[in-house]
Amino acid sequence: MLHDPNHLYIFDTTLRDGEQVPGCQLTTPEKIEIAQDLELLGVDIIEAGFPVSSPGDFQSVVELSKAVKDVIICALTRANKNDIDVAAEALKFASRPRIHTGIGSSDMHIKYKFNSTREEILARAVDAVKHAKSYVEDVEFYAEDAGRADLEYLAKMVEAVIAAGATVVNIPDTNGYCLPDQYGAKINFLKEHVRNIDQAIISAHCHNDLGLATANSIAAVQNGARQVECTINGIGERAGNTSLEEVSMIMKVHAQHFPGLTSNINSKLFTQISRKVSSMMRMPVQPNKAIVGKNAFAHSSGIHQDGFLKHRENYEIIRPEDVGLNQADIILTARSGRHALKFHLERLGYQLDKDQLAMTYERFLLLADTKKDLCDEDLETLMQ
Ligand code: KIV
Ligand code: ZN
Repeated sequence: MLHDPNHLYIFDTTLRDGEQVPGCQLTTPEKIEIAQDLELLGVDIIEAGFPVSSPGDFQSVVELSKAVKDVIICALTRANKNDIDVAAEALKFASRPRIHTGIGSSDMHIKYKFNSTREEILARAVDAVKHAKSYVEDVEFYAEDAGRADLEYLAKMVEAVIAAGATVVNIPDTNGYCLPDQYGAKINFLKEHVRNIDQAIISAHCHNDLGLATANSIAAVQNGARQVECTINGIGERAGNTSLEEVSMIMKVHAQHFPGLTSNINSKLFTQISRKVSSMMRMPVQPNKAIVGKNAFAHSSGIHQDGFLKHRENYEIIRPEDVGLNQADIILTARSGRHALKFHLERLGYQLDKDQLAMTYERFLLLADTKKDLCDEDLETLMQ
């Protein structure tokens, strides 16, 4: 598969790793709706499910393959023939199918999950890729728990699966274990030491157990990864996966650190898709979540509000419009200052001189101390 070295491929796994979260299961029509939104958002690959895991998941991959035609539809398997046969069957209507197969690569997984040896696991990895390749051209291999794998062995495994036909090599930090410089160095080592690495895209798949999923994914991109696996709102197994919206906005805000690198993501759709995924999956977004949290663009302390109202860039590194919000919020609480109060009163049509504002502000503070935050109705009452 020819790939563009200046393109950052966005691989969305909201419907697979994200949907594994207890209580987040979706029906097939719900999955189709989200997949269509993901297509509009501009993702390159949608991981649609793990077909062998249940008849429902199999059917979802079939239906998504019919409904979504412009992006690659990917199905997950373990490294065995039956999983791969089932995935190939589920993908039969996909216009751009990808099989994502793989196996554990750390000694921990080799010994305690597979009760096996490095040699045996390597052979199974190669056989799985060859078998997947007999069905589809586009085969992604994941070296599960690569974050804790021995580097030399990982490099050997990556080289062998590329030789067997893998077009993408996924280096998952399955347990969210790595520090950004460790994960970045891992990717760099593979770039430097795997002879055929230019024949595949390196993919970052990070989990958030230490809150480092996004930082690790960015470190991977800085070291040569050209695909990032992520989910809307960062949902996923345990503490979640890399958040799609965070990676995308980091690339935008720090574009000069990623010269020439582009993606197809339309960030203006973030708020809308975040809310839809959250409500369909009944998975609330924490209010302070970067980019899509309720408070991500809300200014509440007097010092910040004053600085923001003088010049918004004093306290705004992302324009809310760029993520699909109309404007930032100036929240009125007992920590707010006169400037914020004046701003809201003028918005409601009240023009006050300096003394009037000072008096109103005293009354405002008394009221604000009794409430968490004040709304327009409270201000109207205050002005009576
Ligand atoms: O975290 C992980 O290792 C995975 C693989 C199945 C890709 O989700
Ligand atoms: Zn994962």
